[in-house]
Amino acid sequence: MTGIEHQAESWTSQMRAEQSGVDLGAELGPADPTAFTQRRPIPQPVPLDAHGPARIIAMANQKGGVGKTTTTINLGAALAEYGRRVLLVDFDPQGALSVGLGVNPHNLDLSIYNLLMHDDCTLDDIRIKTDVDGLHLLPANIDLSAAEIQLVTEVAREMALARLLRPVLKEYDFILIDCQPSLGLLAINALTCAHGVLIPLECEFFSLRGVALLLDTIDKVRERLNFDLELEGILATMYDSRTTHCRQVLQRVVEAFGDKVYQTVITKTVKFPESTVAGTPITSLDPASSGARNYRQLAREVIAAHAERS
Ligand SMILES: Nc1ncnc2c1ncn2[C@@H]1O[C@H](COP(=O)(O)OP(=O)(O)O)[C@@H](O)[C@H]1O
Ligand SMILES: [Mg+2]
Repeated sequence: MTGIEHQAESWTSQMRAEQSGVDLGAELGPADPTAFTQRRPIPQPVPLDAHGPARIIAMANQKGGVGKTTTTINLGAALAEYGRRVLLVDFDPQGALSVGLGVNPHNLDLSIYNLLMHDDCTLDDIRIKTDVDGLHLLPANIDLSAAEIQLVTEVAREMALARLLRPVLKEYDFILIDCQPSLGLLAINALTCAHGVLIPLECEFFSLRGVALLLDTIDKVRERLNFDLELEGILATMYDSRTTHCRQVLQRVVEAFGDKVYQTVITKTVKFPESTVAGTPITSLDPASSGARNYRQLAREVIAAHAERS
């Protein structure tokens, strides 16, 4: 077991004890999540007069249901609201990112699968303009699951996505890749072409389980394929201030990852499932909601971090 796994295990059992113990409520901590994460003011983004080259960010966590797709859609939409040009890449055969943007994956003639596997398919053949200005999508459907197998025999199989995105880097400010919940070849492709990895972590007991394996994978990709790969940040999602364990989990995540944890915490609200059904980002569906405000603030953090680097 690695250090973080040990920590995760002991925290999990400690939290269980705390939950079931008689002293429930003794160490609740504040309900306001920023009490755990706030460090410094987040600046307003400056308007851009030119675009690109893109920073590529992979949303990765091999656990499903942690908010990867929701973050890809809504961070993307919020970045676009700030005048950034954004390309979203659906890299999950489930096609949830496409669905969340109102695209029916079953009706696609061509998808990212064709772009990966067929030399005569170009990016413009599959690129879709979403209803949000400056927000484009490369859609996926179940065909993509075949690519995972077919790519195995290809030369430079880990570089396939990087090769596809290279021609459009200059058109966009950010490219966000929605990974599937596994650490298979598709995820490795995403990590190989990314500049940064954003890890969404659900604020619940077992969220830290598996993170060690993900961090190991990121390290391996950095050593072997993508020397400059950075941990973009850890995003706490589905935060419910009414529950004790959410607060405890957030506190522990901050203890473990320090200032790698975004100051922004995404609160839990039914608006997210609703916006998926509507096929629209929450920033358009309900612009004043807490969820929309959360993702706008995250966009400001991502833009500020990018500005600091360059
Ligand atoms: N902050 C949130 N509050 C409530 N529900 C959420 C939140 N974020 C995501 N969800 C819902 O949780 C489910 C899983 O989220 P999703 O983004 O699809 O996770 P992943 O892509 O990691 O599998 C979806 O139904 C989504 O609408
Ligand atoms: Mg998903």
